[in-house]
Amino acid sequence: MDDFLKVIRNDHHQFDQGKLEEHVGDEPFALLSKWMREAIEKPTTEPNAMTVSTIGLDGFPRARVVYWKELLEEGIVFYTNYLSDKGKAIEANPKVHALLYWPEMERQVSISGFAEKVPAEMSDAYFESRPRGSKLGAWASHQSEVLLSREELENRVADYAEKFPDFVPRPDHWGGYIIKPSNVEFWQGRSSRLHDRIVFNLKSDNSWELYRKNP
Ligand SMILES: Cc1cc2nc3c(=O)[nH]c(=O)nc-3n(C[C@H](O)[C@H](O)[C@H](O)COP(=O)(O)O)c2cc1C
Repeated sequence: MDDFLKVIRNDHHQFDQGKLEEHVGDEPFALLSKWMREAIEKPTTEPNAMTVSTIGLDGFPRARVVYWKELLEEGIVFYTNYLSDKGKAIEANPKVHALLYWPEMERQVSISGFAEKVPAEMSDAYFESRPRGSKLGAWASHQSEVLLSREELENRVADYAEKFPDFVPRPDHWGGYIIKPSNVEFWQGRSSRLHDRIVFNLKSDNSWELYRKNP
């Protein structure tokens, strides 16, 4: 193995960007929206990147990065192909995990929750806002399926460009999911690895219990 890869380069990283000692509220959405806004404003490199993990049909967890597009009162929305691996996994088991990580802010948010499709009108509206190339791509890409050659994909894009010379409708198999959280952990790096971890856990009466976790 390459010796360079053995060096633990982050060993002396000091986390000193902030702390989570102020009153954090009695539900997670206010703090989540504050952190999302601050990640966008700072700016951080990929404020909208979110790692979504699902339990696959083979029983293995599987993670991939998507872009969160909106925070609603009930949860976080992202868009994808409903027939993709993640779409099939969610269909069989809507329990998902979403991870947000903003290195520049030394912040991580870890969310467990339930994914469900957003209403068709909402997917229509977002699809309509996308560039033409992305719209054609949503038709042409059979996301997560084996692709025999790049050419096959490019030919399909050309076919759909011909089929839809002007308006590109939203494919039924493409749209949004909303992740409705049931457990949200806010992590803020602190010095000497004594990080702050504050958890909001949804109780059966729909109120949130709040507790700290050891770092
Ligand atoms: C920065 C970044 C953003 C991405 N955003 C999306 C997205 O919003 N929606 C999406 O379906 N895939 C997105 N992808 C691609 C996914 O990571 C993934 O490859 C794809 O959705 C297929 O996943 P699956 O086969 O597990 O279903 C993004 C990838 C990266 C690296």
